[in-house]
Amino acid sequence: MDRTMTYAVIAGSGSFLPERVVSNDALAAELAERGIETSDQWIVERTGIRQRHLAERGVTTSALATQAARHALEDAGVTAADVDLIIVATSTPDFVFPSTACLVQAEIGAKGAAAFDVQAVCSGFVYALTTADSFVRAGRSKCALVIGAEVFSRILDWNDRGTCVLFGDGAGAVVLKASDEPGIIAAQLNADGSQTHILCAAGNVAYGEVTGDPFLRMDGQAVFKQAVTVLDKSARKVCEDAGIALSDVDWLIPHQANVRILNFLARKLDMPLERVIVTVDTHANTSAASVPLALDAARRDGRVKAGHTVLLQGVGGGFTWGSVLAKM
Ligand SMILES: CC(C)(COP(=O)(O)OP(=O)(O)OC[C@H]1O[C@@H](n2cnc3c(N)ncnc32)[C@H](O)[C@@H]1OP(=O)(O)O)[C@@H](O)C(=O)NCCC(=O)NCCS
Repeated sequence: MDRTMTYAVIAGSGSFLPERVVSNDALAAELAERGIETSDQWIVERTGIRQRHLAERGVTTSALATQAARHALEDAGVTAADVDLIIVATSTPDFVFPSTACLVQAEIGAKGAAAFDVQAVCSGFVYALTTADSFVRAGRSKCALVIGAEVFSRILDWNDRGTCVLFGDGAGAVVLKASDEPGIIAAQLNADGSQTHILCAAGNVAYGEVTGDPFLRMDGQAVFKQAVTVLDKSARKVCEDAGIALSDVDWLIPHQANVRILNFLARKLDMPLERVIVTVDTHANTSAASVPLALDAARRDGRVKAGHTVLLQGVGGGFTWGSVLAKM
């Protein structure tokens, strides 16, 4: 039996955003027609968001995920036939079942690859990546496709200005390959189910009807406080587990919910803002898609390079949070 240690390396990344870009001004004008008041100034000051991409009606999470997956496969120089595991992180799946991962598997033609979804809301990608890393380390996968994809616009209450201005649609993906060298160095996941009420979409389909509330609801201030606290703790823990100083992390890539959360976090971690990847200004909060979208943007514009250490962080409904430390 081969006892050499196996690691998982991020071999490629890809992303996909719906074509339709909606600026704060355009959104404010749309909302004003329904008597809901907001402004570019309010949104920018409180969140840093300037625009979001919104999927047209009928464009599904699996469609966005499939495009992101194709770009990641191409970037990694592998084909769908090489993929033996597909994990999609999403809270806006196409169907109750089958999983969105199965739909992507069929679209890209990775027949036979294991495929399932992970539901951890805005922490979804970090949960999915940690799961795939465990598969690779255990020798159960050699080439995994890990995708975060969402159409959050479908679960927003467009009459609630406290939430509808915050989110966007999109997808990001990475290819994880088995390797003798790290790769993913450390990961840690957490949840506190007693905080379910601060961020939820507490509806379901039952007996042929939607039961409960089909829209996302949020206690913004509670989420803000929790997010800063847990991301700070999680960053320190994962670095401690890996024996790496925070100052040795080249890039902090947290979930993109709000620029103010990112600024607070950077200050707490003593991380210069120049080493924090920010895409929330152009993508808004794309939930499980936000971290792979940010990673892909920073790889493609040349900031994140081979050999760099990146700290990916998720936080969101559940309440869930987690971190993955990886050498690129
Ligand atoms: C949502 C969030 C931006 C709200 O900012 P805030 O400073 O906490 O604002 P509040 O909710 O206290 O609201 C302040 C005022 O702005 C108003 N307001 C809310 N949304 C508004 C909007 N889009 N435009 C204009 N005014 C708005 C509120 O009605 C309130 O008015 P009032 O004082 O007359 O009652 C902020 O709490 C936040 O970013 N939280 C974290 C959210 C998040 O990241 N969620 C996802 C995590 S995965």
